[in-house]
Amino acid sequence: MPGDDGADGNADADGDAHGTFSLRGVGKRHGDTVALDAVDLEIATGRTTALIGPSGAGKSTLLRMMVGLDWPDTGVVRFDGAPLRHGDLPAHRRRIGYMIQEGGLFPHLTAADNATLLARTLRWDAARIAARLDALVALVQLPADALRRYPAELSGGQRQRVGLVRALMLDPPVLLLDEPLGALDPIIRHELQGQMRDLFAQLRRTVVLVTHDVAEAAYLAETLVLLRAGRIVQQGAPRALRDAPAEPFVQRFMTAQRSLADA
Ligand SMILES: Nc1ncnc2c1ncn2[C@@H]1O[C@H](COP(=O)(O)OP(=O)(O)O)[C@@H](O)[C@H]1O
Ligand SMILES: [Mg+2]
Repeated sequence: MPGDDGADGNADADGDAHGTFSLRGVGKRHGDTVALDAVDLEIATGRTTALIGPSGAGKSTLLRMMVGLDWPDTGVVRFDGAPLRHGDLPAHRRRIGYMIQEGGLFPHLTAADNATLLARTLRWDAARIAARLDALVALVQLPADALRRYPAELSGGQRQRVGLVRALMLDPPVLLLDEPLGALDPIIRHELQGQMRDLFAQLRRTVVLVTHDVAEAAYLAETLVLLRAGRIVQQGAPRALRDAPAEPFVQRFMTAQRSLADA
């Protein structure tokens, strides 16, 4: 099967696969709109994959299916070999840290309570929660007073950083992040890109992130998956998409962003 290159190290020493996704023939419609059209995709463990593509290409839909927030009309989503089922979602979501595109914070909870909700549900002790929160707040450079505020009282960039803290809180083996840096101002975004790359490299987590910034995708991810109109147009290393585009659209997409050199 095309794209089914399978055995590239999805297993550890005892032969179990951890943090892998396998999508087969995944399709989704919203009325007349085809959000995803028979997508086959393998996400390997311990690697960073970036879903890229124009607005409306189906990137968020694909990520939401891995979280279990959307369900395919056709096909199947497997995590570590087992099809996702509604009944398994609470356990699934303890193994993944996820951040949906709008941040997905609960409006009636403060930033701190949003970030620590799952840890409290799991009865982590207060000192452990406080230490973890401190470390993550420092990592994402969230001002301390922001923690006491409600989402409506935060800037878009601050909400996004709270969402990121929440996703990282349990130190999960899998991170699914939808435009995690999209609303940040350029300086913080640049710094966080560096920190996230270090973090992903250290943790060897399975990371799937959505971005429509090609430079950010190439900087953070080993594998790019370029979507258009609900289909995967090309996937591979950033250099492969740049140097061996499968069709003219790939080349246009990979080179469409300006830098100061073009000014
Ligand atoms: N809940 C929804 N209702 C109707 N259409 C939707 C819904 N969610 C997504 N779509 C449509 O599905 C397509 C893919 O959307 P999405 O996955 O959000 O794209 P992307 O994240 O790449 O911008 C778009 O045409 C979008 O308008
Ligand atoms: Mg989206």
